Amino acid sequence: MTGLHTPVLLNEVLDWLQIKPDGTYVDATTGTGGHAVEIARRLRGGGLLVAIDRDAQALEIARGRLEEFGERVTLVYDNFSHIAEIAERLRIQSVDGIVADLGVSSLQLDSIERGFSFRGAGPLDMRMDTGAADKAAEIVNRWPERELANLLYHYGEERDSRRIARNIVRSRPIRDTEHLATVVAGAQKRGRQKLHPATKTFLALRIAVNRELEELEQFLDRAPATISSGGRMVVLSYHSLEDRRVKQAFRRLAQQGVLKVLTKKVIEPGAAELAANPRSRSAKMRVAERRAPANGTRDMREAS
Ligand SMILES: C[S@@+](CC[C@H](N)C(=O)[O-])C[C@H]1O[C@@H](n2cnc3c(N)ncnc32)[C@H](O)[C@@H]1O
Repeated sequence: MTGLHTPVLLNEVLDWLQIKPDGTYVDATTGTGGHAVEIARRLRGGGLLVAIDRDAQALEIARGRLEEFGERVTLVYDNFSHIAEIAERLRIQSVDGIVADLGVSSLQLDSIERGFSFRGAGPLDMRMDTGAADKAAEIVNRWPERELANLLYHYGEERDSRRIARNIVRSRPIRDTEHLATVVAGAQKRGRQKLHPATKTFLALRIAVNRELEELEQFLDRAPATISSGGRMVVLSYHSLEDRRVKQAFRRLAQQGVLKVLTKKVIEPGAAELAANPRSRSAKMRVAERRAPANGTRDMREAS
């Protein structure tokens, strides 16, 4: 099937989740279902996988792949920051594990019409949730130069942010992603670069359009409370802004006695995975375990 995303660190995710066949798990970023299918395959009887994504197109593909597991899988079209509300809606008291594989899927990246890629003339869109209001065009063609430069600097860690923002504003209206990539490349000093010159600009726009960092922070704040003691939280991130937030949130929650960090060192793909799936190259995985509440009260689920 085209558009399927190759799941990153699949064996590691499955191992660290320590899946119990009758447990309840959440895939917060189901995408086209790479991790979800393998989690669902390990469930039996009373086991349940809640498969969340805010991309309806991806979720439809996942639905087809997960159909064989019947009632063991519940698909949810929503933002993962709403994890507590989702659990409540589904009458789930607590879960045994959560995986969040952040960022974009191959389906999103490779569909030129979604506007995530600079390798083609796509619309200035970049919304993961195509029902959301603002597209990249709003930022690219309307934001003041200074705000645009700040965005590229903070979210893209782009050192040429001012020159790029100036070039974008002068070239308005920017027609499509190919036009944008040309304008961005034209603003950069020529040098030896490993990345495509538009990589950081596209990353910054994508983060802003989808409010990725705000979503992540809310998720990291809320998710631990939905996990039963001993349950695990596995997070894969793909750039430093994300990984820093995961690391800091885990550290803070560990100090508060809510989580125990299990990965003292971040887990990254090995040589074989990198060779087979170059898109896994920036992946960083961190795992934490929910600790029993300090006051001696047990989770609702355990007490019942
Ligand atoms: C890297 S892909 C996941 C791939 C999946 N693990 C697999 O192996 O097929 C990330 C997915 O997360 C989704 N996503 C990103 N932010 C989200 C959010 N705040 N809420 C729900 N889904 C989100 C994206 O739409 C995308 O489908």
